[in-house]
Amino acid sequence: MERIKTGIAGFDELIQGGIPEGFNVLVAGAPGTGKTIFGLQYLYEGAMEGQNGVYVSLETSYGAAKFQGDQFGWDINKLETDGKLSVLEVPLDKSKINLFEMIEEEVADIKAKRLVFDSLAAFAINMDQFAIPLGKDGDVSPLVKKSTSLLKDKKSKYDVMPEMGMDSKGRFFYAGDSEKRITYLLINELAKLGTTNLVITDANNGDTQLTVDGVSEYVCDGLLFLDILETSTGNPRIMQIKKMRETNHRLDQIPFEINSRGIVLKPIEGFLG
Ligand SMILES: Nc1ncnc2c1ncn2[C@@H]1O[C@H](COP(=O)(O)OP(=O)(O)O)[C@@H](O)[C@H]1O
Ligand SMILES: [Mg+2]
Repeated sequence: MERIKTGIAGFDELIQGGIPEGFNVLVAGAPGTGKTIFGLQYLYEGAMEGQNGVYVSLETSYGAAKFQGDQFGWDINKLETDGKLSVLEVPLDKSKINLFEMIEEEVADIKAKRLVFDSLAAFAINMDQFAIPLGKDGDVSPLVKKSTSLLKDKKSKYDVMPEMGMDSKGRFFYAGDSEKRITYLLINELAKLGTTNLVITDANNGDTQLTVDGVSEYVCDGLLFLDILETSTGNPRIMQIKKMRETNHRLDQIPFEINSRGIVLKPIEGFLG
């Protein structure tokens, strides 16, 4: 199995050298815990290794991402000019955006190996702006097909699926599904790209589910949790690898810091050497 080195100092050693290729890894945490920095660093380090990346931005503007990167010496403008990085700033003031086609095209354009989706939480909040695929013709359920044809004939008296449609690639769309299902569909679509993805999302404060949507943590191949501990002494930033399929990893809280190089994990005796 190929593993994709994140390049984040001290992190790859914790996951047997890197993230298994093609995985969707969820990066969850409260605001300010370092999720966006983690994502940008992953893309910068990839570009340095000859692995192009796409940053899908629903939360951070291009300018904000650039300034954030500048602090750590990651020249996002130059990476873009060199065709190593593509920042996809998703317009949230337009409706029925076919986000999936946008992402697919961007990934194909620069032959991306890495992708960062920032964030699932922003996607869920703006869900009604997007056209959501239900699957290609052939793998949609008979019920959905039936509903679509009924809508086409305008014979249905039950207006249950008002925005059904089909895109140029034969995928069915429906705006108005539950947040859980759409999160599930989004992660499924990202998994089909062949890229190794970091999917950023907000953490939940309750203890019954970790993420705000409550479903992405089950669907993803890996789950990385970032947090700031409330202690009176010491470094309060920690990360926890809660899940990484096909990987032997530790489960405890690993301290890290954000310094002039970005995210740096602190050596732990007997583990990082
Ligand atoms: N140059 C820097 N040096 C140290 N810490 C920084 C620097 N820049 C940002 N940070 C820290 O990173 C936080 C923002 O990280 P970010 O990845 O944007 O968080 P998130 O995406 O999880 O909301 C800031 O609140 C600050 O604590
Ligand atoms: Mg962020």
